[in-house]
Order: sequence, then C-alpha cells, then structure tokens
Amino acid sequence: MCGIVGYIGLPEKIAEHQALDVLLEGLRRLEYRGYDSAGVATVAGGTIEARKKSGKLANLIDEIEGAPLVPASLGIGHTRWATHGGPTDQNAHPHFGDDGRLAVIHNGIIENFAELKQKLSAAGHTFDSQTDTEVAAKLLGEAYQATGDLTEAMRQAVNELDGAFTLLAVHTEAPDRVVAARRNSPLVVGLGEGENFLGSDVSGFIDFTREAVELEQDQIVTITTGDVAIINFDGTPAEGKRFHINWDASAAEKGGYASFMEKEIHEQPKAVEDTLLGRTDASGKLTLDELRISPEELKRTSKIIVLACGTAAYAGTVAKYAIEHWTRIPVEVELAHEFRYRDPIIDETTLVVSISQSGETMDTLMAVRYAKEQGARTLSICNTNGSTIPRESDAVLYLHAGPEIAVASTKAFLAMITASYLLGLYLAQLRGQLFSGQISDILADLHKIPGKIQTILDGAEPIKALARGMAQTPSVLFLGRHVGFPVAMEGALKLKELAYIHAEGFAAGELKHGPIALIEEGQPVFVVVPSPRGRDSLHSKVVSNIQEVRARGAKTITVAEDGDDAVTEFSENVFFVPETQPLLMPLLTTVPLQIFACALATEKGYDVDQPRNLAKSVTVE
Ligand code: F6R
Repeated sequence: MCGIVGYIGLPEKIAEHQALDVLLEGLRRLEYRGYDSAGVATVAGGTIEARKKSGKLANLIDEIEGAPLVPASLGIGHTRWATHGGPTDQNAHPHFGDDGRLAVIHNGIIENFAELKQKLSAAGHTFDSQTDTEVAAKLLGEAYQATGDLTEAMRQAVNELDGAFTLLAVHTEAPDRVVAARRNSPLVVGLGEGENFLGSDVSGFIDFTREAVELEQDQIVTITTGDVAIINFDGTPAEGKRFHINWDASAAEKGGYASFMEKEIHEQPKAVEDTLLGRTDASGKLTLDELRISPEELKRTSKIIVLACGTAAYAGTVAKYAIEHWTRIPVEVELAHEFRYRDPIIDETTLVVSISQSGETMDTLMAVRYAKEQGARTLSICNTNGSTIPRESDAVLYLHAGPEIAVASTKAFLAMITASYLLGLYLAQLRGQLFSGQISDILADLHKIPGKIQTILDGAEPIKALARGMAQTPSVLFLGRHVGFPVAMEGALKLKELAYIHAEGFAAGELKHGPIALIEEGQPVFVVVPSPRGRDSLHSKVVSNIQEVRARGAKTITVAEDGDDAVTEFSENVFFVPETQPLLMPLLTTVPLQIFACALATEKGYDVDQPRNLAKSVTVE
C-alpha cells in the first residue's frame, strides 16, 4: 500500500527528463498501490519544492500545472493509501522536518508513533498532519541536525522506529543523494547511467531501466548519480542482489483495452500457458526447479497448510480439493491474518504453501515467518519476482503471469490455481500416488485450458449484456459446491469490490441452513454447476439447489458445462463453458463471473482498475 518513487540524475539528464517527469511516470504506474492522495518533492537551487493533493494522481498533476516546479534532477514521489489520518491535502506526503529543509515519504505503519510524537512535541515540534510519517520526518530532522549526514541520520532515526516502513528522504543540504530505508515494506533500486531510481516495485522505473537491485530487510540505501550504497541498520556495509526485469513497459500498458482489468481478463489464456511453460523434462516428467526443498523432505510432508488472503485464499481452497485428491496429503487452508493467532499445530513435516500475487501482503508474510519459526518448510506461489515472501521462503513457484495492475485480481487467480495443480501433481509424482500416465493426462488437459478460456472470452457478449441490464440490482448471491464453492466466493468478491453491490458466495449445501431466508422474488442467484460427468450425485444435488431457490422466487443464472441440458430449464440465463476434468473446472467457470462483474461495474460508471478504498498490495496488517 502506498507507492513510492525516488530519482536522482546528472544535471545534463534534465534535457532528457527532469526529476518530475520520472516521478510522475513512476507514480502513474504505482497508483494501483493507493490512490487517496499523491505528492512530490524535488530539490533545486538549495530549496525543496513540494506539491501534494488529495484524490487521484490527476489532481496532483492539475495542481502542478497551476503552479509549476522549477526543473530539478532529484526528488521523491508518493501515492497514498491512508492509514493514519484521512485522505486530505495536509495528510498527503511528503512531510517535512528540519524546518522545511527535509522532505520524507513513507509506506507502512510506524507503530510507536504516538509515543514519539509526544516526545517530539515536548521538545517543541509542531505537526501539520495526523500522520505517523510526519513523526518520522521530525525525528529524521533532529538526527540530521546532530549528524549533518543524511544517511547516518536515517540510520539513527530508523533505529527508533517500530513497525513496517519504507522511508525516502531528501535534504536541501544533501542535493547529491536520495536516502531510503526499508523494514517489512517493499523497496527496489533501479540502475541507470548517470541516474538511479527507487520504487516500491520495478514498475516505478520500468520506463527508464530494466536493471534493478533487491534490498534485504532492515537496510538503508543511498543513491547518487553514480553509485548505490547499501548498509544495514547497524551500519555494516551490505550488497544488494542485482536482477534483470524480464518484462517491458508495454506489459504494464492497457494495450487498446478500456481498462487494465479487461486486458488482464483477456490475458488469462496466456497467463495459464506461461504458468505451465517449461515445467516438464524431455520425458514429460514434471520438474519444478525453483523448488529448493529436497525431494526427500517433500516426500515426508505429513500436512500442507495453505496461507493466503482474499482472492489468493480462494485459489488456495481450489488447491485443497486437487492436492488432497491427488496426493492424499491433508490440506488446510487458512486466511493468513487468522493463522498465527490460533496456535496452529506445525512441525518440520508441515509444508506451508503461501499464495500471493504481490509477494508483499503483510498478513501473509507475517504468517509465513511464524510458520518458519515453528519449523515448517515454506513454499511460496507468487507472481512478483524478487518480492519479500518468495525471498523469505524455502522454495518458490513463480506464476510468470506478467504484471497485474488492476487492483482486483483476475489473471493471477487462474495462474495461482494452475501453479497449485502443478504442485499437487509434482507431490503425487514424488510420492508415487498417481501413475505417470495419469499425471500426463491431467497435464495434457491443463495445456488445453488456455484455448478453452479463449472460447469463453470470444463468446462473452451475452454475459456483458446481462450485466448491463442488472446495473440497478442491489444484491446478488453465488452458489457452488466442491471446487465450484471457492469459485462462487470469488464471483461474489469480484462483484463487491468492483461494483459495490452486496454479494455473497455460499456452498450450495449450506443454503438450507440459513441463507435461503435471503431469497425473495427476483433475487438474482448465480449457480456454478459441477460437471454432470463428475460425481453424479454432486451435479444432481446442485440441480436440486437451483430448484429450491427458484421455488422461492430467485432468478437463477447458471454457469454450466457444454451439453449440460439438465440446467437449462431451471435457468433464466445459462452460460456454458467447455468440458474439462471436474477438478480443473475453476479455470473456466471463474471467467464468466469476472466478465460479469467487470461489465456491471463499467455500466455503473465505476473505475474498475482502482475500486474505492482498496489498494493492490496490502502491506499493512
Ligand atoms: C481481490 C484481491 C485481493 C488479493 C489479496 C491478496 O481481487 O485482489 O483479495 O487477492 O489482497 O493479495 P496478494 O495475492 O497480493 O497476496
């Protein structure tokens, strides 16, 4: 949450791009991380110039157009997801210290800010905002006064802070550097020629360089025009890990679609294909070579715990059905933020699988750390290369789905499910639980999924038309069973977060235990119908559930497998998806629900890429 960028370049670079251009371009790409307010500060001619404005980045740009900044070759920029203090102009970053000579931006939460604020107030400081960030700015200002060195001042200041933070600072007396620190909050360095960059993630500088450096926890980095110097919080020197960014700026553009969300929905065939790519050897055997846990250790796995939040947790629930079925290893799925507060039973034969698109979700990161402390092996299923969760895990299975910019997850969800299937099959192969022929049959079916998603996308117009006609609907329910249950939950979540409509997903069997009381005349109910070719009883039970809600006035909209004529007579609308193995169906049945939510929200005139109150990367607990 919160996007941060920093830049410093040689003065002659100003002809190419001034600091402000770099900062605004970075903020544009990072806006998905928070869009309550935005701000920039540059240093030129011995003064700090800053502009900040509540609302989206566009408001800040208007503000700057009204009051232009003098050209500068270093600066910092911020886009905010509010934690301490509402989304006002005053609370927007940057915040200032050392009598306005120092500007600071921040991502995270400083937990001891109240105590520090009291001390600073007693020492005569006054505050213009309600933020925890301003406390860090004043503290850093004091440390600068004492040391006269911005890097050392940052080192002293961060050692007084508790919580999670990335801080970036510039000072009028240090116009040759931008100094940053990170603890439990993301920060990467971009390497240029005669210029260097800082960003919450690589999209903050992808337009300018594809060479980057990862930082570890509790490190401070000082960037100048020709150097990147890293130290630990205890002052010892450190080395960053250099990496090449293997996607280009166009991957983070809308490419002709009206929104990133639409683009990412349409990228799903490729996302699934890329997740599957290169996972087998010449003999067709699965080889997951990013798994740095030995086959012997994996074979000893007695229990799997999947940790994730939101959409990623629904992917984890799909994974549970498949992994248990294929490996006979018990799988628990737990919301990461609940996990460590319930004294979970873990030992070294427990495999903890975290699932996260961003790899930075604080709830998931904390749960993974806790699991490690308890002796578990940890494996991360993640989309973002080099992010914190995979870096801190024993093993990683990257999704390779490309950048996901829209705040609501779509292509990452399908890629997460695909990667979980690969993990399940790999474990089954290791433990001899499935014959190699069975594994290759499932893999062959998985390889056919991208084409089948494409078929759904090509025939999406009736779903969109239905959505457009339902813009005034106050509530929609979603039902599913077996792997259709997490799909129903995901369908409801997409509708809530994009269209701000009350939506609930239920296990269809649970309906009669209470939720059926919600059904009244005209209530729309989506039903994700299992394949009639799977367990017979499951399909017929869902058909009965459809009849039960219809008998009470519901308007039923079904998502069913091609040729499942049994549901047609009980459906107001039916959307068919191509046939596949019952366990693989979520990769298809989810897609109409995503399209529906996106089209309905668009019809209501909402911004589907940046829904209200949300942020893409939830880096606070
Ligand atoms: C919903 C959505 C969120 C995320 C959740 C976890 O559309 O995107 O529910 O799935 O915040 O995020 P990651 O996967 O980055 O850990």
